[in-house]
Amino acid sequence: MGTLKVSVWRGAEAGGFRTYDVPRLASQTVLDVVTHIQRHIDPTLSYRFACRVGMCGSCAMNVNGKARWTCRTHVAEAQGGDTLEIAPLSNLPVIKDLVTDMTPFFDKWAKAQGRFNGARTRADAFERVSPQSAQRREVDAAIECIGCGVCYSACDVVKWNPDYLGPAALNRAWTLLNDVREIANAARLAAVAGDAGCHACHTHMSCSERCPKKISPTAGIAGLKRAVAVAAIKGEL
Ligand code: SF4
Ligand code: SF4
Ligand code: FES
Repeated sequence: MGTLKVSVWRGAEAGGFRTYDVPRLASQTVLDVVTHIQRHIDPTLSYRFACRVGMCGSCAMNVNGKARWTCRTHVAEAQGGDTLEIAPLSNLPVIKDLVTDMTPFFDKWAKAQGRFNGARTRADAFERVSPQSAQRREVDAAIECIGCGVCYSACDVVKWNPDYLGPAALNRAWTLLNDVREIANAARLAAVAGDAGCHACHTHMSCSERCPKKISPTAGIAGLKRAVAVAAIKGEL
């Protein structure tokens, strides 16, 4: 089926692109291309993946300038003719080649109080949550996040303001705010109400456009803005 000219980022922050010829195959994914280079051309190429079925979130990279999950992106979807440019995610430190340091991303989940706090113990029965309730529907729309960092990489506000909590952490905060079992939402609202929280979002929608799980962090962030305003009016912040 021909040959792809693939430019791949090599090195750390100060690296550059190197070009490889990769055989074009039917139904080839971008992750297949990277794997071919590492296994057959240059074993020193570093990249990250685990599940290869769109569940673990570890394979995200910039492909032809757009952040994507590479295991579920076919070359045909991302291709610009017979060329492909593959780079590490933006807005994160580059460790080597296509591997970024996800520490700032997950630190922001912690800052946004992204951990569930329940009141029940192992001795209690499961709490029943109606699938039809308004809050459960909000959770359903946001819960399938795989922590891939695609939205974070696509967000210009993160680029301008490195302290901004970002779309994924705020989406997680919104999910927990709607969880009727959660008992620490006052602290969560206080955490997302600051200068680096939900009000820093400029509603660009890049996160929602790029999310491979079809989540809209923008909608969740708008919900957080409303919840913060209500809490402020009630004097609860
Ligand atoms: S909507 Fe907000 S969080 Fe999403 S990309 Fe735009 S500024 Fe970033
Ligand atoms: S919200 Fe979407 S793009 Fe962002 S980390 Fe979760 S799954 Fe990835
Ligand atoms: S390798 Fe797990 S989501 Fe791509």
